[in-house]
Amino acid sequence: MIKYQAFIVILLEVLNLSPTWSACIFISDCPVALKYIDKRRHDPTTVALLQKVHCGLVNKGGRLVPKVWCDQIPDFEENRQEGNSKVDLLPKQDECGVQAAGSKITQGERTDLEDFPWLALFQYKNRTNHLAYRCHGTLISDRYVLTAAHCLSYNSASRGKLGSLDKIILGEYDTSTARDCLPQQWGGYCTDPLQIFSPETIHIHPDFGTDNAISDIALVRLNKKATFSDFVKPICLPLEPISLKRHEPLFISGWGITEKKTSSTIKLKARILYLSNDACSLYGVDRTQICAGSNTGADTCRGDSGGPLMVTRLTPDRDVKNILIGIVSYGSKCGGSSAIYTNVSTFIKWILDTIHE
Ligand SMILES: *[C@@H]1O[C@H](CO)[C@@H](O)[C@H](O)[C@H]1NC(C)=O
Ligand SMILES: *[C@@H]1O[C@H](CO)[C@@H](O)[C@H](O)[C@H]1NC(C)=O
Repeated sequence: MIKYQAFIVILLEVLNLSPTWSACIFISDCPVALKYIDKRRHDPTTVALLQKVHCGLVNKGGRLVPKVWCDQIPDFEENRQEGNSKVDLLPKQDECGVQAAGSKITQGERTDLEDFPWLALFQYKNRTNHLAYRCHGTLISDRYVLTAAHCLSYNSASRGKLGSLDKIILGEYDTSTARDCLPQQWGGYCTDPLQIFSPETIHIHPDFGTDNAISDIALVRLNKKATFSDFVKPICLPLEPISLKRHEPLFISGWGITEKKTSSTIKLKARILYLSNDACSLYGVDRTQICAGSNTGADTCRGDSGGPLMVTRLTPDRDVKNILIGIVSYGSKCGGSSAIYTNVSTFIKWILDTIHE
C-alpha cells in the first residue's frame, strides 16, 4: 500500500498535479496544529477543529500520541495590534498579569510577598550621591518598565535636589530588610534576591509637557533582561479595548511614595473605584486619562507616582489576570476623593512603536 501511494505521488508530481488525499501524521510533526495549541488552545473552536482532523492514536514508547490530517488544518493570522509585530516583544496573553498560584488574597492594606510582582521601585541619586525612592513603574516585558513621564522629566532644580533615576528594583517587598520573609504555618517563606537594573534608555512621550498632565507616560528600557519568577512577572497591557463598568473595583499598589515622601517600607495595596470623568472635572480630564478614587478618600493617597492602576479579568482557565489600565499621574493627594491616571489604552500604539528587541 505504502509503495503504491508513493508511486501515485511521483506520478502526480510528474503530471504536475497535487494529491487530493492528505497525510495522517503525528501532531508533533504538524506545525500548524502546534500553532493552534500554542496560540489558541483556549478557543473552543480549536478543540472542535482538532477533533475533526484527528486520525488516530499511536503508542509511541508508552505514550499515546495523536495523529492528525495535517494539511486539512487551515492556517490563521495571529492576532496583532494593527499588524504590529512588536506585540511579540510583550509576554503572551496567558503569561502576564497572573500572580503565583500560592499567593493568598490578603485582607487589609498589606500585600503578600508575591502580590503585584510587576511593581518596580525607582531609586534616584542626586549630585551629592544621596539615594531616595521616588517613583514606581510597572514591568510590561522582560526589558521594559512603564511609568509616568513626570517621574523622569527633571528640571535642573529637581535634578539637583532629588537627582535622576539611578536604579530600577524588581522583586522588592520590604525596603527596610535585605531578605523579605513572612511567617507561615510551617516555618516562613521568603522572596528571592532583588533584581536591580540601571536605565539603559528613557523614552518620555513627546506630547508630555511639565505644565499639564497630558501624555504623562514614559518607558524605561532596562540594561539587561529581567528573569521572571514568582516575585518578578510582567503585567498584561490592554492590547484589546477594556470596557470598565461604573464603580468597578480597581487596584493600586506601592510603597506610598509621592514626590515628597515615603510612607511605608512594605508594599501596600488599595482597592479603589472607577469613576466617571465628571468626578475628576476639577482637574480637567479627557479621554487620554482615567478618573478613579474612593468615596471615603482614604485610599487615594496610596497611589504612588508612576505606579500601576490595575483591573482584573478572568482568563479562560479561570485564573485572575491583572491588566494595566492606568498610570498614577496627578491629583493623588491624601484626603482627596479622586485622582487622575494616564489611560494606557490610548498609548498602546506609542508603546509598541517605542519598544524594540
Ligand atoms: C541631595 O539630597 C540630600 C538629601 O535630601 C540633600 O541634603 C543634598 O543637599 C542634596 N544634594 C544637592 C546637590 O542638592
Ligand atoms: C481610554 O482610551 C481608550 C482608547 O483610546 C478609549 O476607548 C477609552 O474609552 C478610554 N477610557 C476612558 C475612561 O476614557
